Amino acid sequence: MGAYLGMERSRAMQTALTRRLGLVHPIIQAPMAGTSTPGLAAAASNAGALGSIAVGSVGSEEARLQIQATRALTDGPFNVNVFCHDPAPADEARNAAWIDSLRPLFAGFGAEPPRELRDIYRSFLVDDAMLTVLLEERPAVVSFHFGLPDAGRIAALKGAGIVLLATATSTQEGRRAEAAGIDMVVAQGFEAGGHRGVFDPADDPCFATLPLTRLLVRDLDIPIIAAGGVMDGAGIAAALCLGASGAQLGTAFVGCPESVAGPAYRAALSGPDAGRTRVSAVISGRPARGLENAFMRRAGESRVAPYPFAYDLGKALNAAATAQGDAGYMPNWAGQAAPLSRPVPAGELVRLLGDELQQSIGQLAS
Ligand SMILES: Cc1cc2nc3c(=O)[nH]c(=O)nc-3n(C[C@H](O)[C@H](O)[C@H](O)COP(=O)(O)O)c2cc1C
Repeated sequence: MGAYLGMERSRAMQTALTRRLGLVHPIIQAPMAGTSTPGLAAAASNAGALGSIAVGSVGSEEARLQIQATRALTDGPFNVNVFCHDPAPADEARNAAWIDSLRPLFAGFGAEPPRELRDIYRSFLVDDAMLTVLLEERPAVVSFHFGLPDAGRIAALKGAGIVLLATATSTQEGRRAEAAGIDMVVAQGFEAGGHRGVFDPADDPCFATLPLTRLLVRDLDIPIIAAGGVMDGAGIAAALCLGASGAQLGTAFVGCPESVAGPAYRAALSGPDAGRTRVSAVISGRPARGLENAFMRRAGESRVAPYPFAYDLGKALNAAATAQGDAGYMPNWAGQAAPLSRPVPAGELVRLLGDELQQSIGQLAS
């Protein structure tokens, strides 16, 4: 068991986030489906941040194992993140059209696309087994991405003493989260790496982190966590200056040895083109920001199948490309500030971020 040291909080920056969860630093290591791990989350929590695991891409029993694995590595609080997308009905015609439009790319790798696309990620909105696991395992925090669950699920989780967070990309979404009883809102700006948490991708105002955070701080009465483009202590200080109670960092933790990012992803993150990111829906069917690649450049977005059916095809295309030694179809999610990435162990990164935050606040005061 790694020690949750309960470091000297008096010396560190305290906010509504740190007080509510007993953190040393106003920092959340973002949940990152397919990239974050129990080891990453525990290392972040052990260093006094809020570590997160993401279980939106796995079934309920795998989620239980991941929660238990995290708990075995830390006594600190941690967050479990689920996806709340509207379950898309299987639209066979649309899926077939999308398969056909990517067929030439598959052919370029000597491969055939799958004949049918699967609904690979079960939304928490309809996943009763996942709710049961969360209620039985009772992590300190549960967070929602892509939307909000119904009142019954929110009441059940709150009744179990779980603190609830939800991503918002606009004041409208933030207000809905607050009205639903969410405890804190993660203000995810357009700079952010990974999938945009926008509830309805057809209606995305694309707010950057700075204006979104200010708007949510002004319009909501619950604490706001800024997310998107924050990579160091100066960025966290900026978030606090905007009125946020903390910052959620994803890309900053991708390069940590505890993540499961592969060698090509790590190399691209520290390569000369790490600053070239793009929001695209072609890989998964929902807009997401990643390092620009051949997939984003070559596939037209107009007929993309709904999420997560399109992701099933995107993963198959990446597998075909990778088998031929082409890394251009990997979903290397990353935010605009990726060139500021520092590939050090997560605990070290959290301590560094805490020190930098203190320095930045000190400079402001001097
Ligand atoms: C690799 C990766 C995977 C992500 N997966 C998730 C996820 O599963 N759930 C979620 O709520 N957010 C996810 N995000 C978004 C983060 O929560 C956060 O909004 C974002 O990382 C903040 O921007 P930054 O990457 O510039 O720090 C992911 C981000 C990245 C980089």
